[in-house]
Amino acid sequence: MDRITVIPGDGIGKEVINAAMLVLEELSLPFEYVWMEAGDEAYEKYGKALPDETLEECKKSKAVLFGAVGETAADVIVRLRFELETFANIRPAKSYRGVKCLYDNVDIVIVRENTECLYKGLEFEVAEGIAEGIRVITRKGCERIARFAFELAKREGRKRVTALHKANVMKKTCGLFREVCREVAKEYDVEFNDYYIDAACMYLVMDPWRFDVIVTTNMFGDIVSDLAAGLVGGLGLAPSANIGEKYAIFEPVHGSAPDIAGKGIANPSAMILTTAMMLRHFGYLEEAAKVEKALEEVLAEGKTTPDLGGNLKTMEMAQEVVNKLKSY
Ligand code: NAI
Ligand code: MG
Repeated sequence: MDRITVIPGDGIGKEVINAAMLVLEELSLPFEYVWMEAGDEAYEKYGKALPDETLEECKKSKAVLFGAVGETAADVIVRLRFELETFANIRPAKSYRGVKCLYDNVDIVIVRENTECLYKGLEFEVAEGIAEGIRVITRKGCERIARFAFELAKREGRKRVTALHKANVMKKTCGLFREVCREVAKEYDVEFNDYYIDAACMYLVMDPWRFDVIVTTNMFGDIVSDLAAGLVGGLGLAPSANIGEKYAIFEPVHGSAPDIAGKGIANPSAMILTTAMMLRHFGYLEEAAKVEKALEEVLAEGKTTPDLGGNLKTMEMAQEVVNKLKSY
């Protein structure tokens, strides 16, 4: 039995996690689920957003299935990614039939470095009115994320890897990242190119089809992945996986969405797609494909939550997905 730590978190995190469990129950795979607390509510209760027991439990599990947390995100999810050394954050952005969005036929995978860069939190107030932040980029970090991106491209039959950076200005940090990406690219039979991050944002908005796999550093990856989610229907549809050598964390890109929390109307799609990514990680390729197919069909039929123009509740939409699964 593979052990999975389930962290619902706060707000809609707790709502969408139930949707994921409904789908997982239907598949009845040999997983053992251990439910743990983290987030704003955990902070209120225990004075710690990521209680020690939760972290310990995560370290005993092969994977963490995570909903979303609120204001404590930096102390919970960002910390978990560091603690579990999940160095690669995979964020697909795909357009789905039946979902109103800016562009059709977009299918991009963003591979974001997850452990370095400005998000290391090395920030200091050096004098009154002067704050500094340190950007850490290492050859080892660049190499493993670049290799991860090329391996993913190879595995998924994707044609091109594009590195995003700002090496003309950040000559040392981005320079190192670009140099290593170029070196690693030579080992693979996959097309490679690189763009400056600013130009890439324009290309993403005007011509997203020129991208296939994107590899980039932590902060650029954070920004560009929300941008890409916006191209294809929003955060309600954006899943993600954090992969390391030993551990993995699966979470939707969205947060606790206080504006809609408690109403039962959060879109469960991101969480369900996240669950499919977890299934694939565990080698359940057929099951993962079925879940994705079921969700695609439900979306195409317009059986959605209000954010996508439908009138279903979170669990009603999840039930539609389960009904499809039952019919296969
Ligand atoms: P958010 O992702 O929670 O919400 C942004 C907007 O998208 C809101 O209008 C929300 O209603 C909508 N939205 C998000 N997910 C949705 C879904 N599944 N269905 C329908 N609509 C959805 O980001 P925001 O508002 O910037 O942050 C809210 C809280 O979440 C903050 O406290 C923030 O710190 C936290 N946060 C946590 C994250 C995590 O746990 N991984 C990630 C991002 C934010
Ligand atoms: Mg983000």
